[in-house]
Amino acid sequence: MSVGMPIAALWPEPSAGPLDDAALAALYGRPDRPHLRMNFVSSIDGAVTVDGYSAGLSGEPDKRVFGLLRMLCDALVVAAGTLRHEGYRAVRLDERRRGWRRAHGLAEYPTLVVVSGSLDLDPAHAAFADAPVRPVVLTRADAAVPPGLTDVADVVTCGADRVDLATGLAELRRRGLDQLLCEGGPHLFGALTAADLVDEVCLTVAPLLAGPGPGRITAGDPGPVRHLPLRHVLAAEDGTLMLRYARD
Ligand SMILES: NC(=O)c1ccc[n+]([C@@H]2O[C@H](COP(=O)([O-])OP(=O)(O)OC[C@H]3O[C@@H](n4cnc5c(N)ncnc54)[C@H](OP(=O)(O)O)[C@@H]3O)[C@@H](O)[C@H]2O)c1
Repeated sequence: MSVGMPIAALWPEPSAGPLDDAALAALYGRPDRPHLRMNFVSSIDGAVTVDGYSAGLSGEPDKRVFGLLRMLCDALVVAAGTLRHEGYRAVRLDERRRGWRRAHGLAEYPTLVVVSGSLDLDPAHAAFADAPVRPVVLTRADAAVPPGLTDVADVVTCGADRVDLATGLAELRRRGLDQLLCEGGPHLFGALTAADLVDEVCLTVAPLLAGPGPGRITAGDPGPVRHLPLRHVLAAEDGTLMLRYARD
């Protein structure tokens, strides 16, 4: 298992040395119940992007945990906005991570799930056209399905005039997709928080001050404040912190 830039645990138990991928995977784990995990990276001062993209925040340690979390999930949930803006590719994992999945009785690749109210989605987009597993699109009944989309994805209606996320997640679980990893973006996170569907937040804090301008990792209408207990703190040699918060 690769080590790369050393990442060590600080809390609750400091690790004796750098954590390899097996140790990191064990720390994040796959809970034994249906679970929605969010994964975001932010600057110290709370920015969700640098120059409009998350890439400016994401160093090697974040990329490593990002890949590991993909390895651990049944489905990767992403908002259409982030899919379009960040130029998502089809979800691919290297042979080592596919081997890990096979050894743990999982499908070789996680299923991509796209949340879109408008269905402004291009079936030729690489995330659909090159997908190793047929993606799922969660949408609302009154959205017009673009030609060709049902050739490359299962389009699932959940809600009449808006996407009912609780219904959508229940449908994913009905398909055996229990461990959900959501990579955002901010509007989807805000809506999932408002619906009280978030079980875990994995937050990488990049050692950067982005300054005023960029948004936060959450967006949309205000909702109730929710408490999420801290579960672990990891630190990489370059000062990146990786925080994991989860419900009991
Ligand atoms: N730092 C990070 O970790 C991170 C992670 C992800 C994204 N980002 C950044 O966030 C920005 C994108 O944010 P964004 O404001 O576009 O938010 P977003 O949540 O990525 O996308 C919003 C769009 O996604 C769909 N969507 C989201 N929530 C929905 C809901 N509850 N119901 C129905 N559709 C929903 C809608 O698509 P339709 O228009 O198709 O209806 C909506 O217009 C980019 O700059 C990206 O780089 C950063």
